[in-house]
Amino acid sequence: MQRITGSFETSGRDGEGLIAAFRAATKRFGDVVAADALTLGIVRGEFLSFLGPSGCGKTTALRMLAGFETPTSGEVFLDGEEVSAVPPYRRPVNMVFQHYALFPHLTVAQNIAYGLWQRRPRPERAEIARQVDRALAMVRLSGFGPRRIWEMSGGQQQRVALARAIVNEPKILLLDEPLAALDRKLRREMQIELQTLQRELGITFVLVTHDQEEALSMSDRICIMRGGRIVQIGAPADLYDRPHNRYVADFVGKSNFVDGVLREVSGALGRIETAQGLGLGGRMGGPVAPGARVTLSIRPEQIGLARAAQPGAEPVSVVNRIFLGEHTEYLVRHAQLGDLLVLVPRQAEAGAGGFAPGESAFASWHPDAALILPQD
Ligand SMILES: Nc1ncnc2c1ncn2[C@@H]1O[C@H](COP(=O)(O)OP(=O)(O)OP(=O)(O)O)[C@@H](O)[C@H]1O
Ligand SMILES: [Mg+2]
Repeated sequence: MQRITGSFETSGRDGEGLIAAFRAATKRFGDVVAADALTLGIVRGEFLSFLGPSGCGKTTALRMLAGFETPTSGEVFLDGEEVSAVPPYRRPVNMVFQHYALFPHLTVAQNIAYGLWQRRPRPERAEIARQVDRALAMVRLSGFGPRRIWEMSGGQQQRVALARAIVNEPKILLLDEPLAALDRKLRREMQIELQTLQRELGITFVLVTHDQEEALSMSDRICIMRGGRIVQIGAPADLYDRPHNRYVADFVGKSNFVDGVLREVSGALGRIETAQGLGLGGRMGGPVAPGARVTLSIRPEQIGLARAAQPGAEPVSVVNRIFLGEHTEYLVRHAQLGDLLVLVPRQAEAGAGGFAPGESAFASWHPDAALILPQD
């Protein structure tokens, strides 16, 4: 048996405490490199998400963990063993597929019980029924056991698929877009349900999603992918506050971007020059040398709007105002920077009131809140 050894730089951890790991795992399909030298450790008991656009290799990464794909090169470890050649049914994992594959000729309860019936020794009939009922309750489908799969809606089928995986109490639960078919409200409820479940069962969850809100709200760590590679991995707040490049800043949360050339660096601060010759200061978000093309990223909630000019404030005109309850979203136009999105909390608009479209205003932000990022 080969132990997980060596360091997994991407995660900043060594093999200790890991339930699974990829080491330089690459998967090619013909000319397509679906996973490109993935190196990543998955910590026992964590909730990890793979986040990225369609086709970036999320499902491929999950399928390599489950054993449905064998890496073209590199290795996959599970629970301390190198498992690249171990078939799926011998791995201590269960996967909920992007296209949930239920048995259409079986009832809901029979679908969920399937894995338990396969167990040797087989549990008592009453014990199986009890566990099926518990799993049904967890996915809010109590009483649906006798139904046929075709009598269930898409969202209900998705929850049956989830219950079928949970009931086996795997060491790792792999979830490929498990909530995609649900409406917004049920989706939110199931997200909370899944988090609770994960804590209660102490199972490691690996979730694939292209929904950043879902990843941010549920995960201990998020692994951002692009073109088969890991771009950055970290806790949600880490990725939001300290993105390594423009791609991550764009993928996690909303941001305003101003392109330019880095002119000077002094400690943690830098100064960029836009194409129109405007100089703007910011905090260095990555190792970039003067002369390089960079992007200044400013989160909409970091920009303040005022009626009176202040030193360093930029004159803008209000293009659009959308009232969103607890805050107001403004689109403002700057002669050189273009359109900027600004989020103003309700409280800040108390006294003076909001701005109307067409009004002039002054936009300002603290230089610390503007991040200078590499463009790639
Ligand atoms: N069996 C296969 N044969 C050939 N190419 C494949 C196969 N599976 C995946 N690919 C390709 O590998 C790349 C990554 O696919 P993958 O399914 O991992 O993406 P994904 O991130 O899960 O995307 P989505 O969000 O659309 O599900 C894509 O370019 C895809 O076309
Ligand atoms: Mg996929």
